[in-house]
Amino acid sequence: MTRGFRLPDRTYLPAIFERLAIAEQDELEILAGWPSPTMEPETWRPLERAYRTLVADMGGCEIRELPGPASVESTSLGRYFFVYVYLAALAEARRFHRERGIPDDISWATLSDLGRNLVRDRLLFGSGGLRTSSWLTLHFRGSIYELGRLQFNRMRVRAARVANAFREGDHALGIHIPENGRLSPEACDDSFARARSFFARHFPETPTRVGICTSWLLDPQLADYLAPDSNVLRFQRRFTSIGEGYDGDADILRFVFHRIAPDIDELPQRTTLERAIVAHLRAGKHWRNRTGWLEL
Ligand SMILES: CC(C)(COP(=O)(O)OP(=O)(O)OC[C@H]1O[C@@H](n2cnc3c(N)ncnc32)[C@H](O)[C@@H]1OP(=O)(O)O)[C@@H](O)C(=O)NCCC(=O)NCCS
Repeated sequence: MTRGFRLPDRTYLPAIFERLAIAEQDELEILAGWPSPTMEPETWRPLERAYRTLVADMGGCEIRELPGPASVESTSLGRYFFVYVYLAALAEARRFHRERGIPDDISWATLSDLGRNLVRDRLLFGSGGLRTSSWLTLHFRGSIYELGRLQFNRMRVRAARVANAFREGDHALGIHIPENGRLSPEACDDSFARARSFFARHFPETPTRVGICTSWLLDPQLADYLAPDSNVLRFQRRFTSIGEGYDGDADILRFVFHRIAPDIDELPQRTTLERAIVAHLRAGKHWRNRTGWLEL
């Protein structure tokens, strides 16, 4: 049984904000918009609805969009709507982790992606908030885990059969690369090794050795620009490509420059990758998000 939408007691908030890597600037805005059950029902009810949608699917692996606020307002409550939903669901997420025997450090490292996403949102939109809900539904339903450098989520294969390796509907682990320093091969080796034992131990009912990644990092066109021993190309070479991918211009601009639809003449040109992205687009070419798989 889950309880209704209830935010954590204020006395616990400093410790919670710290664990979730929520920066002071966000903390102040979150407190400023703090919802209360005495507020108008049309504001309170959407929070309850989003919370119920999330916790009703605890342990679920499909990425989900939660129902949002009644109106998309620029108030703190509007911009941080999903943060309140995740704060209310924190107790459920932690209980799920405990029941699965997930070590505390992995539990908090995983959930602290909330703070990292707030930083990213502020860079993208120029003001604080969390505009999309879907990515963090994985964290707060216990379906993704941060194991060292990489994150892994429980998923089912959507691609068609690949030789004898896997076929549609099989269990697999999605691989994600948070923005958290460089992507050294050693750190990746360590994460892959941890993923193998972690999921076998904590989720033995869905055994798998298949890891799948969809990202701008797997676009083979990057090899025209980056050094063969760059971390991105070394990461890319671990994977066998599946399918043709899809347009990746928006994603590469978001992930590398933290910009939505920028004027490319105004983008910084400090690094090889920054110069590559702009030169490629100026030449009228496009980046692609590509999918690849590997055996864990
Ligand atoms: C993935 C990531 C960690 C790789 O960084 P890395 O380990 O430094 O990568 P490489 O060694 O291959 O870097 C090669 C070149 O690209 C540059 N580069 C790599 N990532 C960069 C970034 N995000 N912004 C600007 N330049 C970057 C490096 O500085 C280097 O250029 P230089 O030799 O002129 O300095 C980094 O791009 C990142 O944090 N990205 C954001 C998260 C992300 O995109 N995740 C995937 C989501 S699908």
